[in-house]
Amino acid sequence: MKVFVTGGSGYVGEAVLRHLSLSGHECRALSREAEAHRRRLTALPGVYPVRGDVTASSVDQLAGLMAKCEAVVHLAGIIVEKGTAGFEAVHTEGTRRVLAAAERAKAKRFLHMSALGTRENAVARYHQTKWAAERIVRGSQIPWTVFRPSIIFGERDEFLNVFAGIARRSPAVPVIGPGRGRLQPIWVEDVARCFAGALARPETQGQSYDLGGERAYALEELLRMVAAALGKRRMFIHLPVPLARLQARLFNLLPGKPPFTEDQVTMLGEDNVCDPGPMKRAFGFEPRSLEDYLKERFGQG
Ligand SMILES: NC(=O)c1ccc[n+]([C@@H]2O[C@H](COP(=O)([O-])OP(=O)(O)OC[C@H]3O[C@@H](n4cnc5c(N)ncnc54)[C@H](OP(=O)(O)O)[C@@H]3O)[C@@H](O)[C@H]2O)c1
Repeated sequence: MKVFVTGGSGYVGEAVLRHLSLSGHECRALSREAEAHRRRLTALPGVYPVRGDVTASSVDQLAGLMAKCEAVVHLAGIIVEKGTAGFEAVHTEGTRRVLAAAERAKAKRFLHMSALGTRENAVARYHQTKWAAERIVRGSQIPWTVFRPSIIFGERDEFLNVFAGIARRSPAVPVIGPGRGRLQPIWVEDVARCFAGALARPETQGQSYDLGGERAYALEELLRMVAAALGKRRMFIHLPVPLARLQARLFNLLPGKPPFTEDQVTMLGEDNVCDPGPMKRAFGFEPRSLEDYLKERFGQG
């Protein structure tokens, strides 16, 4: 089928596009910088980048780009607001706009990327705006499916790779806060498999799926696993939350993408865990174990 994908130029989007392409779908991938991604994206059979912005393109323009697409996969999102439109504009208003365009273009299916921890009365603004977006999607007439992954690991992730970089160079690895909030990482290929799988499974319509691996880990445990896979003995230094917040504010004043934000400090203080059972039953697979991935990615051979 013809599929319109937002966020296809990103880390998770690339894996989703690859799975859609392998399943024989033709994909139009929206990007603000379609030309910059053209060569990489068109290497995937049936994938074509198109230029647009979920915060700036009009509903008419987006609907025009979606013409003849039967499904819309909406992945566009941000984790850092600096240098871009904010969370409300991208997550909430962007979703409202993409959904209105999908309705105008008469799409028959809408797959939506949310995030684990997204809930009514969430503390972090990232989660609050993703929750508002989910509510918009759930109110749509187009048969929808919502996905809520915990942290997503993979070759291009900005989580394990960042800590692996620090653990390679520095004898001390910072842990934000007490490091006891648990995460349930899921492999990027497993996330992509769910998105591609949902298009072939009508029973996933009207459902929300939490996406997580088999095990949950405290942040410090995760960082210790990365260091161990690299064969490095490291000290783990806890950054008290008020200090981490202050540092995040200072990072925000400096040029470039900050290593972490205040919102992320808030999120790392919460458990981010789920029951992967409904995902496994709906899509029929066992998620890849983090231990196995770390050994392959960072192991010493
Ligand atoms: N990575 C994780 O661990 C994780 C966990 C849970 C949920 N998620 C969600 O998964 C989605 C993808 O995350 P990611 O890690 O792949 O992020 P990423 O690598 O930063 O990719 C973000 C994507 O969103 C697009 N985008 C951002 N602002 C846009 C705008 N105004 N208009 C159009 N497109 C826009 C970007 O396209 P261009 O820059 O090319 O325009 C890019 O393709 C996000 O919704 C994120 O919240 C990620």
